[in-house]
Amino acid sequence: MKILAFETSCDETSCAVVENGRTVLSDVISSQVPIHKKFGGVVPEIASRHHIEDVLPVAEAALDQAGCTWKDMDALAVTQGPGLVGALLVGVAAAKSAAWALEKPLVAVNHMEGHIFANLVQYPDLEPPFLALVVSGGHTMLVQVLGYNHFLLLGQTRDDAAGEAFDKIARVMGYPYPGGPHIDKLAQEGDAEAVAFPHAMGGEHNFDFSFSGLKSAVINYLHTAQMKGEAVSHEDTAASFQKAVTDVLTEKTMAAADKTGMKTIALAGGVAANTGLRKALAEACVERGLRLCRPDPVLCTDNGAMIGCRAYYMAQEGKFAPLTLNADPRLPFSFSR
Ligand code: KG4
Ligand code: ZN
Repeated sequence: MKILAFETSCDETSCAVVENGRTVLSDVISSQVPIHKKFGGVVPEIASRHHIEDVLPVAEAALDQAGCTWKDMDALAVTQGPGLVGALLVGVAAAKSAAWALEKPLVAVNHMEGHIFANLVQYPDLEPPFLALVVSGGHTMLVQVLGYNHFLLLGQTRDDAAGEAFDKIARVMGYPYPGGPHIDKLAQEGDAEAVAFPHAMGGEHNFDFSFSGLKSAVINYLHTAQMKGEAVSHEDTAASFQKAVTDVLTEKTMAAADKTGMKTIALAGGVAANTGLRKALAEACVERGLRLCRPDPVLCTDNGAMIGCRAYYMAQEGKFAPLTLNADPRLPFSFSR
């Protein structure tokens, strides 16, 4: 089964052709990062306009690279949400039009579920059950994946997402959007023990997260130094902040693995590209004899392949969408109760 998948939830226009869920025949990503950089973040209206310009050329490039035509597709898939509504609408309109014209079924995918399925693309032998740590610009959650369409929410952030904290701190330090990769790079040169930032909710017996207190503490630290005219090492600040985030994420993930008995951990979402987090989780998993799945960075950030993979497993269970499908900027994860 060949699926053409559309992903336009934020600032990447991406289309992929995925065969039988795991074989990526093409994954074309047109990033708008350089366009939004000068505004310090994604400007929704500008993102939508660029998706409109890019979506068909990106889809045609994906088909081309896969050596396919539109008629070779067995189904169309699209990110329905969560994301920026105007951005999502472009992908939804494109996928619906193609499904109607080709008379092929349509699958509506949850973006966050797609991030988890990037692991299935990267690791052909990976099968549920496993535990997923999802860390992106908008979400931070621990999900127990019990089946291809069976998810349990163990915990999530009560305020900011991890990626949001990375981006905000980088911005205060004067680095352009998206800030996560800048903090990651600085942290590799810094001393993680230099500043003791709070490890929010680290000690509590639940699987929820909170990063707003940590974010404020780092910003206060930077502002106080600035007011006193003291020089601050960006490298040490980045390393200490990143350690506070990765310590909490690692500790909670290991506690969740202990509680659920899951033997495999899958890392997902844009922040999964973070070097410090990948290393900390790898060490903790080795210590406990757990398997850690970490997709390549290109599969961690937004891409069409993960949407095509997720769609395949939905299609297998007949989970198709009507042509009246609408984008849903707050689409909830389909958790089982
Ligand atoms: O998953 P994603 O591409 O988009 C959302 O669905 O939100 O995640 C984007 C987030 C941004 O906050 C970005 O700064 C962060 O992922 N990110 C990183 C790294 N690469 C991307 N954060 C930390 N370290 C990185 N290397
Ligand atoms: Zn994403």
